[in-house]
Amino acid sequence: MRLLIMGPPGAGKGTQAEVLIKELQITHVSTGDMFRAAIKEGTDMGKKAKEYMDKGELVPDSVVVGMVKDRISQPDCVKGFLLDGFPRTVAQAEALDETFKEMGIKSDGVINIDVPRERLMDRLTGRRICRSCGASYHVIFNKPVVEGKCNSCGGELYQRSDDNEVAVGNRLDIYEAQTQPLIDYYAKQNLLKNINGDQDINDVLADVLASVR
Ligand code: AP5
Ligand code: MG
Ligand code: ZN
Repeated sequence: MRLLIMGPPGAGKGTQAEVLIKELQITHVSTGDMFRAAIKEGTDMGKKAKEYMDKGELVPDSVVVGMVKDRISQPDCVKGFLLDGFPRTVAQAEALDETFKEMGIKSDGVINIDVPRERLMDRLTGRRICRSCGASYHVIFNKPVVEGKCNSCGGELYQRSDDNEVAVGNRLDIYEAQTQPLIDYYAKQNLLKNINGDQDINDVLADVLASVR
């Protein structure tokens, strides 16, 4: 199964993806996670991406498209994949269509997690991430069992450098201007699965699973 998951920053893409990839036995491909890994490794690409990410701006299409193309051509993506955070612009979506055509594959659906903007600031400024496995928590909405520690791997939790009010404001504006138009793009291709993301995490998951099974 080849799926896309989209929605504004803080919609719950990463939270849902963690469970979905296990349920569906597919590979998680998150462009945000890939950039954060490159930053941690100190690669040239990571250094370049960090300048954009810290301000809440998009990394240029030319960098992202090549990275995704390489990633979904890897052997662990043959069984299927979940693309999280890509595409984010119409140009990226067109490039992905082209790549799928070259690879002789098709998308099975686009999960669109819908959450009103006024909910997102609190979700993002309260988010904590596991340094080792990338799992997402929240200081109020999704607390770890032991404060500051990951439930699944015991890793240390930290706050993302773009989860401050200024960067989040920018990310939300950019989402509305550049990524929201993709909802129409995929609706026209009959691929869109609209999910109400403004409910309990487990209820969102149940709706997502029902939409893809
Ligand atoms: P990326 O890492 O993709 O960030 P994002 O799109 O801003 O999305 P988030 O990861 O912030 O939100 P999420 O939907 O995954 O929410 P989560 O599940 O964690 O990208 C970061 C940056 O990289 C971009 O700004 C850009 O610079 C660059 N980039 C990446 N891809 C790119 C591309 N294709 N092109 C160009 N640049 C690119 O949940 C959020 C919080 O809410 C958590 O605390 C969670 O516990 C909580 N929560 C989740 N669900 C619920 C619920 N139902 N109720 C209550 N709380 C909930
Ligand atoms: Mg995410
Ligand atoms: Zn962890």
